Amino acid sequence: MRDVLAFATADDVADAAAFLFVNLAAQGVRDRGAFYVALAGGTTPLSCYRLLSAPLISSRVDWEKTHVFFGDERCAPEGHPDRNDEAAAAALLRHVPIPARNVHRVPVAERDAAERYESDIRGAFSIFSPSSAKGIPRFDLVFLGMGPDGHTASLFPGHASLEEKQRLVLHIDDSPKPPPRRVTFTLPLLNAARHVALLVTGKDKAAALARVLVDDMALPAARVRPPAGTLTILADAAAVSDSRNPPAAGTSR
Ligand code: 6PG
Repeated sequence: MRDVLAFATADDVADAAAFLFVNLAAQGVRDRGAFYVALAGGTTPLSCYRLLSAPLISSRVDWEKTHVFFGDERCAPEGHPDRNDEAAAAALLRHVPIPARNVHRVPVAERDAAERYESDIRGAFSIFSPSSAKGIPRFDLVFLGMGPDGHTASLFPGHASLEEKQRLVLHIDDSPKPPPRRVTFTLPLLNAARHVALLVTGKDKAAALARVLVDDMALPAARVRPPAGTLTILADAAAVSDSRNPPAAGTSR
């Protein structure tokens, strides 16, 4: 199922995304004893992460039972500001009582980082949450952003990684968005999720979003459609401005 939610501003998108996180966290813990979430990189989700770090909101999340992963990571030194885990730590993870063992960083310094991360994901899930019918771990929530070219995570248009059908995590060394070396979830892992939230704000994303909404499969973001889950696209007015018959702000389609 796909929901498209249009909001007046990027702040409204951040509010809605934080609300979704809190609700799905409560549902995951209630139904399966744990909440598995993959955070997005880039700048769009940072407002949502900062909202989640506010005590009034963060107190509603059972961080002891929350497991955080990263949908992609740039191959930069640990603690480097370019790292997606560092951005998430600064905006959220350092400000909430999540046990260090529950934050699963990508071991980018290792030559076989992608294989190690895939094993980490499979191992973390074997304890609580049943995998999908194909034995793929099912994240309760995957946050994603989207670039102006329609890339998502570190899956880029025309890249061989888009056609991967078996591996759950891949290493790429030719990202058109710097830095070139990255580790990324693949579509099989993204599409096994129970819920994917694609956060899209800004006029520079409008052309790509319009193509995603008409299922232009040349765009990686258009290929994120969890068959047994829900995709929610949360966009601001600027990002839906090129879309034919977009939902009015504050509505869904
Ligand atoms: C990354 C991200 C990437 C990001 C988009 C949007 O590591 O760069 O995972 O996929 O989500 O490029 O980036 P912005 O949110 O900064 O526009």
